[in-house]
Amino acid sequence: MRSCLTGTFLFERGKRMDKIQQVQEEALQAINGASNLQDLEQLRITYLGKKGSVQALMQEMKSLPKEEKPAFGQKVNVLKQLVTDAFDQKQVELSSGAIHAQLEAEKIDITLSGRKKEIGTIHPLYLVQQELEDLFLGMGYKIAEGPEVELDYYNFELANIPHDHPARDMQDTFYIDPNTLLRTHTTAMQMRELEKAKGQLPIKLICPGKVYRRDDDDATHSHQFMQCEGLVVGEKITLADLKGTLTYMANAMFGEGRTVRFRPSYFPFTEPSVEVDVSCPFCNGKGCSVCKGSGWIEILGAGMVHPHVLEMNGFDPEKCSGFAFGVGLERVAMLKYGIDDIRNFYTNDMRFLKMFNRFD
Ligand code: PHE
Repeated sequence: MRSCLTGTFLFERGKRMDKIQQVQEEALQAINGASNLQDLEQLRITYLGKKGSVQALMQEMKSLPKEEKPAFGQKVNVLKQLVTDAFDQKQVELSSGAIHAQLEAEKIDITLSGRKKEIGTIHPLYLVQQELEDLFLGMGYKIAEGPEVELDYYNFELANIPHDHPARDMQDTFYIDPNTLLRTHTTAMQMRELEKAKGQLPIKLICPGKVYRRDDDDATHSHQFMQCEGLVVGEKITLADLKGTLTYMANAMFGEGRTVRFRPSYFPFTEPSVEVDVSCPFCNGKGCSVCKGSGWIEILGAGMVHPHVLEMNGFDPEKCSGFAFGVGLERVAMLKYGIDDIRNFYTNDMRFLKMFNRFD
């Protein structure tokens, strides 16, 4: 009986020891075979975690006969140490592998030549606009803006061009509806500013912007182009002020020594009205192919603000007067940079635009 009991006991103990051995083999094999850090972490939980196999063996020890506990405990401790060491070693191995893989993937070939970033250029029309803005800001003018889709009222009515006025034929207009149009001149902005001022003096501003006219496009015409309007209203403003201002502008835009001349003209919103010519900057007024032998180049329309326009906008023409001018930016840019076809400004040919690259 006794020997039989001893036999069972030995048998059970052997089984328990085998189990430890089995967990050990299984854990070490799995840990050594882990191929990434996530899998390894999973194995740590399985074997070394609170509910893991090693902990389960520890629990089992509590129910063992006293004499068996030391040997069993020792073996489990050895197991725990072995598994922990294997885990630590594998972790170091996989982490350095991961770092290498990352370094490999993010490798930068510093011998590769860099890719040049394309930097945009400033459009020649905008160069001219900026130059004019700087010039007039320096003389104390402000810069006004207005809508390109404009009311007939500002484009024509307030500019002294009523519906039946023959001057409406001077400018072929893109109408959106009977009262709305694409502005045909920057004078529309001038009218808005006059109205806004509510009779308050002085007014000193320029308004650059796009304008539209129903024109057939060719080397010198475009259905869309740019103008810059100038307007000064105050006490005792005269044609001499206009001439002085435009002479200053011509010198700044086309070089020192330029003179301007006025030729009588007609605009409904100015009285008197003038066409303004600048002495040719290419031949200094002697006559060349650019100025067609005349020594003069026409660059803008101008005049003294019509008394009726002042009146309509709430100014007393007895007490104040003003001058206005409108210059075409394409015309200025073509002269300044020697461009012979207005369409160059709108076709966005990079070879053309790059000629104005100020950053190269
Ligand atoms: N608005 C005129 C045009 O487009 C130019 C101009 C402006 C003339 C101001 C006189 C005064 O042709």
